[in-house]
Parts: sequence; structure tokens; C-alpha cells
Amino acid sequence: MASIRILSGIQATGTPHLGNYLGAIRSWVQHASSSTYFMIADLHAITVPKEPELLAQGRFATAAGLLSAGLEATSAVVFAQSVVPEHTQLAWLLGSITSMGELQRMTQFKAKSESLQETASAGLFTYPILQAADILLYDADQVPVGDDQRQHIELARDLAIRFNHRFGDTFKVPVATFPPVGARVMDLQEPRAKMSKSAKSRRGVVLLTDDDTAIQRKFRRAVTDSHEEVGYDASGRPGIANMIEIAAAVRTEPVEQAIERYSGWKYGKFKDEVADLVINLVAPIRGRIAEFQESPQELRARLGADAERATHIASQVLRRAKQNIGLGEF
Ligand code: AMP
Ligand code: TRP
Repeated sequence: MASIRILSGIQATGTPHLGNYLGAIRSWVQHASSSTYFMIADLHAITVPKEPELLAQGRFATAAGLLSAGLEATSAVVFAQSVVPEHTQLAWLLGSITSMGELQRMTQFKAKSESLQETASAGLFTYPILQAADILLYDADQVPVGDDQRQHIELARDLAIRFNHRFGDTFKVPVATFPPVGARVMDLQEPRAKMSKSAKSRRGVVLLTDDDTAIQRKFRRAVTDSHEEVGYDASGRPGIANMIEIAAAVRTEPVEQAIERYSGWKYGKFKDEVADLVINLVAPIRGRIAEFQESPQELRARLGADAERATHIASQVLRRAKQNIGLGEF
């Protein structure tokens, strides 16, 4: 059987956080092989205004985070989207078969453009088309992501099916895959909002570069409720539920098992326990990120070589798509 082709991506917005790791990156590392493609979505990152210097830093920090979280030791292809021009070319072809209505229904666009209104960029609106191009260019079978990407992957599927229907068999139709636990890690200060790199405050966001003390402090100050002992109620007690889920995800056990394990624990002891689990997870990753920041040569070499591997397949698939749509060679 041919090996399963996997592609996924992360926006180039800086050091990944615990949600990125538990929701996506960890499963990327588990599935990594020479037919898996992990992309730093730097073109997606410019759909909201960015200072060039911050973009460059965010891009490097994202790459360092991915490699340090385990991809370095694998044969996975790790590359930056902007280095492979096929992505934007295929996005144009796909944009021609995408309706305005489909894009208007995207909840991420609605959320991100709410405060910007008319000043929201056209790129923010067409963002999911570029994402579909990212996926379809690699003939991906599976796209491992966190829960917030469900709708985007569904659109990529719809576009693949539509293109194949109109222009003949061209693209594989991908499926999204989600981790059994950890697909939606919440902000420790605002447990009804997902943990996000763009959060106004970093107090509820655990970064893979946070030191032990910072992690412990973030958990100690995590918002809970008026109870004193741990019990699971996802809608009524979201802060505690989130920490139970984080513990389960770090321990790779079902949530039910974590609920049983921690039920009745006093909040203080429970928070320290979850903090310790996360500290042990983050410490080695943080160490490797610091080394990359200190000496970036290995990172540059890896990303350079892998961009060529990515281009090799992306160029073949783009050629096939152009051919089928009527834009082949004269
Ligand atoms: P982003 O940083 O938005 O580019 O997300 C990169 C990957 O991490 C995607 O697969 C997201 O679905 C996943 N992800 C982002 N935030 C979270 C979160 N709070 N919990 C779980 N997964 C997340
Ligand atoms: N939009 C995704 C996010 O914010 C990142 C991304 C870009 C992606 N291209 C992708 C994810 C392709 C999966 C597949 O998380």
C-alpha cells in the first residue's frame, strides 16, 4: 500500500503554544515520514497587518518551534509556504470555482473581520482558498488539525470534488483528522475562548518557550469557579474542565480516566499537578528552541532542503491542474 500522504500547516505568528502542540503538532510528529508535509503558513500570516521585522521573527520562531517539538528528528518535509510559489498559483485557480457565499460563511473570517469591517483585507476573506491550495497541492489524504480548522478543511474537500467534477480527476479529496483529546485547548484566563497566539494577554497562554516558573504561575492563576474540589462539567466549570483535558492530553489518556484520577482533588494541588505535567513536556522543547535561536544554521539548511522536496511534488500537481483546466502548454 502506498504510504498515507499528510499535509498540515501553522500560521507564522510566533512560538507555538500548548494548544498548537496538543491539538496539532504532537500528532504531526507521531505520523511523520517522508510523505508528510508540515508548512509554516507565512502568507496566511500577512492577511492582518504585520511589521516586516515581526513577521520575520514570527516565521523563525514558528519553524524553530516545529523542529524542536520533534519534527527535527524525522524525515518529514518542513517548509515555508511563501518559498513554494505554486501555492499562490493554485489558489488563483481555486478562487475561480469558489463562491462568495462559501467564503462569507466561514466563521473564522466572521470573527477576525468583525472589528475591522470594511478595512479587513481581501486576503483575510480569501484565506481559506489559499489553505485549500496548500492541501490539494500535495495530494494529501489526511490533514491533522485542531478543532477550529474543521470548516476550512471541509471547504478544501468541496473544492477538490467540484474541480474533479468539472475538469476531470485532478485532486485527492482530503479528510481532516483530530486528536482524541486536546483538539481545543482553552485560554487559562478566559476558559470559554480557545488558547490563541493573538490573545490580548499572554497570561492565559502557555508558550513552548515559557520557563518553569512562568508555566507554574499561569496555572496557579488560571480562572476556575467557586467550587473547591475538582469535578468535570464542561459548560458549567470550563476552567477546571480545560485543565482536566490538558492533563489527559499530556498523559495521553482518555478524559474519563483523568476525571476519575483527579475528582475530589483540591484546586491548589490539582493546578500544581497539571503545571508539572506541562513543565515536563515543555522543558526539552524550550531548550532546543533556544539553541536554534543561538545558532540558526541547521534550521536554515533543513528548511532550504525541504522546500526543494516540497516544490518537487507541488509543481507536478499544479501542472496537472493547469492542464486539466485548459491552461496547459500550447
Ligand atoms: P494556528 O496557530 O492558528 O495556525 O494553528 C495551528 C494548528 O494548531 C491548527 O491545526 C489549529 O487547529 C491548532 N490549534 C490552534 N489553537 C488551538 C487550540 N487552542 N487548541 C487546539 N488546537 C489548536
Ligand atoms: N489556517 C490554519 C490555521 O490557522 C493554518 C494552515 C494554513 C493550514 N494552511 C493549512 C492548516 C493547510 C492545515 C492545512 O491553523
